[in-house]
Amino acid sequence: MRALTWHSSGDVRVETVPDPTIVDQTDVVVKVTSAAICGSDLHLYGGYMPTMEKGDILGHETMGEIVEVGSAVTKFRRGDRVVIPFAISCGACWFCQKELFSLCDTSNPNKEMAAKVMGQSPAGLFGFSHMLGGFAGGQAEYIRVPFADVGPIKVPDGLTDEQVLFLSDIFPTGYMAAENAEIEPGETVAIWGCGPVGQFAIRSAWMLGAGRVIAIDRVAERMEMARQGNAETIDYTKDDPYETLMETTGGRGPDRCIDAVGAEAHATGIGGAYDKVKQTVRLETDRPHVLREAIRCCRKGGTLSIPGAYIGFADKIPVGAMMNKALTIKTGQTHVQRYLEPLMTKIVDGQIDPSFVITHTVPLEKAPEMYKTFQKKEDGCIKVVLKPQG
Ligand SMILES: NC(=O)c1ccc[n+]([C@@H]2O[C@H](COP(=O)([O-])OP(=O)(O)OC[C@H]3O[C@@H](n4cnc5c(N)ncnc54)[C@H](O)[C@@H]3O)[C@@H](O)[C@H]2O)c1
Ligand SMILES: [Zn+2]
Ligand SMILES: [Zn+2]
Repeated sequence: MRALTWHSSGDVRVETVPDPTIVDQTDVVVKVTSAAICGSDLHLYGGYMPTMEKGDILGHETMGEIVEVGSAVTKFRRGDRVVIPFAISCGACWFCQKELFSLCDTSNPNKEMAAKVMGQSPAGLFGFSHMLGGFAGGQAEYIRVPFADVGPIKVPDGLTDEQVLFLSDIFPTGYMAAENAEIEPGETVAIWGCGPVGQFAIRSAWMLGAGRVIAIDRVAERMEMARQGNAETIDYTKDDPYETLMETTGGRGPDRCIDAVGAEAHATGIGGAYDKVKQTVRLETDRPHVLREAIRCCRKGGTLSIPGAYIGFADKIPVGAMMNKALTIKTGQTHVQRYLEPLMTKIVDGQIDPSFVITHTVPLEKAPEMYKTFQKKEDGCIKVVLKPQG
């Protein structure tokens, strides 16, 4: 089959690789009809994620049609159309039982590698380094899906791929980010990053009762999309987010803050230069500019929710402000399985059509150039959908 493979920083290729097969009887094999490129893929593309190997297949936002079914799978049969969560979860361990699916204790076969860095290993993820399982991703014609009874959700008739694809990741991620922000009715929520995750966090903040949503970015079309979602916007290259947020909240600061940017935050000034240099020479894996800014901006006793992905180590986090202002911090890879049914219901009921975020739809063969376009935010690119079947 054809698949998008990682080779090194900035070098991904579409190559012919062996077709996946059933390995465990709890697997299914899915013929991929749509797969998206995520902001998280950019961290791999940028070479920031350790334990990537040449030839690894990327992609964790995937859907398609089941073509092979392991003998132990009870929920699915050939021909079922499914969306696949990016986290692989066994459904049976202590963490899965508590619905902490992205923390599954059994799905990562390379647990020791992750535990060495983090103390304990989170779940295995599709297309996301060997430390997180070395699972082949979904930017390919076919994908093997382990623990099929726990992961995928069947798509009701009448919905397009574009309407449901983002249940695999960014819609639940934006939703969990807003849930983690602990929004009380009428509160002001500030969201850093108007990428796809920020866009879904904006819409989810409204669903969860926000009174005001303020989104921060510098890319014009992304801020425009945020305004279409009824957010007010701050261009951080024109107005200082701290000054602006303090002024617009009567000196109190936003009640709830969401960092939907993560490890590759862009920053002006000395702090940005410091992180850039340290990250380049690998003394720091992350550029935590937004994390610092959100801690500073958040009102006393507020909550900071962090869906933005961090990888390893970051410097100069203002822990003093965090502690003395009594902030609550919540974060994590999304427990996607928890949100599949409730968010599918919102799509079916017409409360939201997630396809609004798509700007580019291309055949898989064009994926390498779309990685570049998406990374550089050229051509108005906000979200790319790949069509592996042409
Ligand atoms: N927790 C999870 O399970 C999960 C799931 C999906 C994605 N993510 C992470 O969420 C983050 C966002 O993903 P995305 O797909 O929206 O990515 P993206 O790269 O498209 O968007 C990031 C946005 O942040 C903006 N930005 C950069 N520096 C900024 C700053 N200083 N202030 C404000 N905005 C700034 C960029 O202009 C861009 O629009 C990534 O780190 C990604 O890895 C996490
Ligand atoms: Zn993702
Ligand atoms: Zn588990």
